[in-house]
Amino acid sequence: PPFTLRCYAGFWLVEFMLKAGFPVIHSVVFNPRPTDVLLASYPKSGTTWLKALSFAALRRSDHPPLAVDHPLRHRSPHDCVRFIEAEFDTGDEFEAFPSPRLLATHLPYTLLPEAITASAGCRVVYICRDPKDALVSYWHFTNKMSQGFGVDAGSFTTIQDAFELFCQGRSPAGPQWQHALRYWEESVKRPDKVLFLKYEEMLLDPESHLRKLAEFMGCGFSSEEEESGVVSAIVDLCSLGKMKDLEVNRNGSANLFGIKNECYLRKGVAGDWSNHMTPEMAERLDKIVEDALQGSGLTFGSSS
Ligand code: PPS
Repeated sequence: PPFTLRCYAGFWLVEFMLKAGFPVIHSVVFNPRPTDVLLASYPKSGTTWLKALSFAALRRSDHPPLAVDHPLRHRSPHDCVRFIEAEFDTGDEFEAFPSPRLLATHLPYTLLPEAITASAGCRVVYICRDPKDALVSYWHFTNKMSQGFGVDAGSFTTIQDAFELFCQGRSPAGPQWQHALRYWEESVKRPDKVLFLKYEEMLLDPESHLRKLAEFMGCGFSSEEEESGVVSAIVDLCSLGKMKDLEVNRNGSANLFGIKNECYLRKGVAGDWSNHMTPEMAERLDKIVEDALQGSGLTFGSSS
């Protein structure tokens, strides 16, 4: 099964991302470039959306957002970005990949290659989401995978089982709160290198977050672009509704992990957990998270 988990340095990692017990990426020589952008997330936190927005913004001179042949109208965002812990076996492939390189990872900060976390390393954008919604999203995702093409994505069938494991930190890249916390701390220490975004806040105001993201990646929007509506065109191109309508996301095509594109797109809202968890479950998880984040300044969800 793809989601057999192994505990490594305090985190639960998907087994296929380990080679001889170590994250695969550690056996690859990776030389970060100043133009590299690494998109980091705990799974089910808005990765697909962040990939789409970052790709559309970073590559807009080659691919204007309104172009009918824009890659995001024909490909899943996951196929526009390279997933560092699973796609590369050798450093040569990294070297051959042209700049600006858009990369993605679910690895915890502490397990990233040192070259990335070194002070001169590349820029990192982290997206976090309320853990209750990330869990509910993950539960739907694994169920859909199992039903869709018989993949045994995990042994749980009820949200209660998934919840128990999640609370123990036993989920891909879990514990979720430790994952987010380490990136958060880094974003406080090195705001020029690590941008910390929240899914719920992005939902409330996607345009201003896209501006912030582009600025951080070194490709802020000019006033001409603002006037011609490029920002809203990118937000529209990357919206869940538009992405769901695309043939590539409807026709059941699968990515290199054998996962159908449609599995990444569901409701895309904040607070869906309340349709699946009891108030007691929510309270228990909130307490675990609150204790772990105490004093860090990090809170989940939107502050408004
Ligand atoms: S993965 O497997 O880690 O890449 O999954 P990830 O993309 O992080 O999480 C999937 C959830 O994100 C929602 N989603 C979006 N929200 C807003 N806009 C866009 N474009 C978008 N694309 C994906 C998706 O619906 C999943 O959330 P849930 O709550 O399950 O709907």
